[in-house]
Amino acid sequence: MHTVSLSLSPNERTINPNIFGQFIEHLGTCIYGGIYDELNPLSNENHLRTDVLEKIRRLSPPTIRFPGGTVVNIYHFEDAIGPVSDKKTKKNLVWGGDLRPEFGPCEFAMFCKSVGAEPMICVNMASGTPEEAGNFVDYMNGTGNTYYSNLRRKHGFDEPFNVKYWCVGNECYAEPDIGIQNDVQIYIRDAREFIKFMKLTDPSIELILVGSDNMDGWNKPVLDQLGNFCDYLSYHFYAAHSPHPLYGTFLAEKVFQEKVREFTSLIQTYPSEPQNHNPWYRFPARKHPISLMIDEWNIWDYKDDGAYGLYMNYAWKDAVWVASMINTFINEPLISGANMAQLVNVLSPILSDGTGSYEQMIFIPLEFYRKNASGTHVCVELSGAYDIQVSDDAFIPALSCACCLNDGRKTLFIVNRDFSSSVSVRIPFDAEATVFSADPEAIANKQNASVSPSLSSLSEDSSFILPAGSICIFKEMKQ
Ligand code: AHR
Repeated sequence: MHTVSLSLSPNERTINPNIFGQFIEHLGTCIYGGIYDELNPLSNENHLRTDVLEKIRRLSPPTIRFPGGTVVNIYHFEDAIGPVSDKKTKKNLVWGGDLRPEFGPCEFAMFCKSVGAEPMICVNMASGTPEEAGNFVDYMNGTGNTYYSNLRRKHGFDEPFNVKYWCVGNECYAEPDIGIQNDVQIYIRDAREFIKFMKLTDPSIELILVGSDNMDGWNKPVLDQLGNFCDYLSYHFYAAHSPHPLYGTFLAEKVFQEKVREFTSLIQTYPSEPQNHNPWYRFPARKHPISLMIDEWNIWDYKDDGAYGLYMNYAWKDAVWVASMINTFINEPLISGANMAQLVNVLSPILSDGTGSYEQMIFIPLEFYRKNASGTHVCVELSGAYDIQVSDDAFIPALSCACCLNDGRKTLFIVNRDFSSSVSVRIPFDAEATVFSADPEAIANKQNASVSPSLSSLSEDSSFILPAGSICIFKEMKQ
């Protein structure tokens, strides 16, 4: 068995809670049947499923993104506000079926409030207009005597929703999607107009611009032209189990980490304070240095099956991957937020049907990290670590670590990605360990909902055996 030792060096960087964000889209049963289920006895007076709300509260997402995703390309907020009888159902041209309007922006904002999350709204750049996006901001945030602020009040919401995070388009580079901005110069031209209408309406909002994995062909021109307005650059990341059923997602995570390094090299060439902001824009430039928003991420084995493989049953190996990804989010200073895609039923930690709901395996690390990863960052250096050989020329490091310091106590997260061997580690402080492990292919279902953690102490020489394929958390004992 390998023996690994660790050294820790605290730094001042605060871990951004927004790395625990979630995402819901008008796609399949994510919203209707997942969160909003009007005829179900499990739903409350607002038609929200109480059993699902209870699980979402346990995840406690700081932000929730809505209404898409790709569906945003056909989404018009005015179809989904006011009395239900006035709302418009349209065809969901993107995902099939109907684009139902009952759960509109106000219901979304109230849902966010009920689970303690901040709303993050994506606007339609494909079939919408800059003016419509500005009106959407006014409807949600306006405090004046304007038509849209008054319309919100007339709809029963006197107080503005104060939506801070706004995404200017979704994956606009994707040529097959509805929309014409897949040419980066068109995206830049159009986004600039959307930004003007949105920021002139509410200068306090923060903007997430569309980023892609193409640094020179997309991200650089976007930041060259719009860098002064870009609080966050978005990047979507989906891993798959191919080419290796056990380690494919971890190989993808390596590629993700390499991309984050590329983003870091690019973004550090832009000044932290916006420069030469033309005052004639009449609204302020971005407030802080540009950072990365991973506003969609998960494992997705895309299938050409009509349902796009969106209803995934996640196994324990996927929970291990999620923990490993969260370690990466904690360790990468450029990442200031992440939204798992998606929250319920579609690529999700929570599954529901007409009779109840349950947590998938990936729920376990999301809940545990959310409760325990906060405070300031601590760098972890490993010695004696080793790589797992996945194929002739592909390797992944066996361990993934992250550490934080909160209230004078360290919490260390170690993920053993080696599914065939345990690893011995020396923990450099006195700690109590919480260990989650299971068969890599085990999945949760209604009868067998979860993996119970086991609690243990370090041995006398401060060493600990990390089981194969495990998530282990070491909490420093109070002095
Ligand atoms: O989450 C599913 C889809 O994945 C989203 O609609 C889209 O933005 C992404 O490609």
